[in-house]
Amino acid sequence: MSLSGRPRPLSLVFLLGMGMASENIHCPSRCSCQYLEVNCTGRQLREFPAAIPLDTRQLILAANNVSYLPAVELSFLADLVYLDCRKNLLGDDLDFTFIGVAKLVYLDLSFNNLTQVTFSTFSHLLSLVVLKISDNPNLVVIEKDAFANNTWLRHLDVSRTGLTFLDTSTVRDLPNLRFLGLSDNLWHCNCSFLDFITWMTETNIHFPDADNITCYTPEGLRAMKMPAVEAQLHFNCLTQLYKQDYIFLCLIGFCIFFAGTGAAWLAGICAVIYEVHTSKREEEEEEDT
Ligand SMILES: *[C@@H]1O[C@H](CO)[C@@H](O)[C@H](O)[C@H]1NC(C)=O
Ligand SMILES: *[C@@H]1O[C@H](CO)[C@@H](O)[C@H](O)[C@H]1NC(C)=O
Ligand SMILES: *[C@@H]1O[C@H](CO)[C@@H](O)[C@H](O)[C@H]1NC(C)=O
Ligand SMILES: *[C@@H]1O[C@H](CO)[C@@H](O)[C@H](O)[C@H]1NC(C)=O
Ligand SMILES: *[C@@H]1O[C@H](CO)[C@@H](O)[C@H](O)[C@H]1NC(C)=O
Ligand SMILES: *[C@@H]1O[C@H](CO)[C@@H](O)[C@H](O)[C@H]1NC(C)=O
Repeated sequence: MSLSGRPRPLSLVFLLGMGMASENIHCPSRCSCQYLEVNCTGRQLREFPAAIPLDTRQLILAANNVSYLPAVELSFLADLVYLDCRKNLLGDDLDFTFIGVAKLVYLDLSFNNLTQVTFSTFSHLLSLVVLKISDNPNLVVIEKDAFANNTWLRHLDVSRTGLTFLDTSTVRDLPNLRFLGLSDNLWHCNCSFLDFITWMTETNIHFPDADNITCYTPEGLRAMKMPAVEAQLHFNCLTQLYKQDYIFLCLIGFCIFFAGTGAAWLAGICAVIYEVHTSKREEEEEEDT
């Protein structure tokens, strides 16, 4: 029994070894593989490729028709550092997609169909240095705390999206940011945006293609360059504050007027009641005697 049983575990170990080795060599169909790098550029892929070697560091899916990134399959690639998904059809909510690829340093999602970025979209990517989400024309919202966990972020590109507004704290609080792409968006230069524009004039972050960072609305400021528009916007918003002050003063005036009238009226009533009371008591006292 021991003689016939012995080869089995050996052959099992051998087969397992072969399996692991062949998995390392294995390359997804229609992709080309080099050492730790899988390149599937422009292969008309509609889905995330199966059987990607688990030790892959660099995955290139550029110029395909991938519309969904499966979080579980991605999380098998725990050593992934570089992910290029530019020019695909990614659109659906990407929240929690990157939960298992915490070592990612470079992420390119430009030329896709993203619609929003929330805290949960990139919050697990604590090592992220480069994030490209430009050329997503349906991207209209980047939540205030969207990059709160991406403290190593150095290069962020949100050019050519549908953004109208970005909260200053979203980018101001990134200690390592050096490059911020903002051009060709539909920036709405109202008084809420003044804070952002003021920050742009004060920071030494590089804004590429600065000539195309312009206001889109309101009509009066259309096509004006964003840092330069600061003075005018400042003036507009200050006079607006004065208008608000007038309204405030009028309200206060009315309040004082009504309060005064009310007080006088109450005092009058009290006086009358007191008068009536004392005269009644006098009458009663007179009756008693
Ligand atoms: C990936 O493949 C494409 C074409 O097959 C090639 O143009 C590109 O340079 C490759 N990218 C890398 C990083 O090797
Ligand atoms: C990929 O998308 C392009 C443009 O959207 C389309 O022309 C092409 O037929 C698609 N290819 C496949 C394989 O779906
Ligand atoms: C992009 O997303 C929008 C909204 O989710 C959708 O209506 C549209 O069909 C998508 N476009 C493509 C090319 O997938
Ligand atoms: C955000 O970062 C903190 C600390 O760096 C970490 O504890 C937390 O889990 C992160 N949040 C998410 C959703 O990963
Ligand atoms: C300015 O515009 C943004 C977005 O377009 C809006 O959320 C905000 O309420 C506006 N602020 C003012 C003061 O109108
Ligand atoms: C800036 O915008 C103009 C007009 O929309 C466009 O022709 C030009 O190519 C843009 N410049 C860059 C560098 O994108």
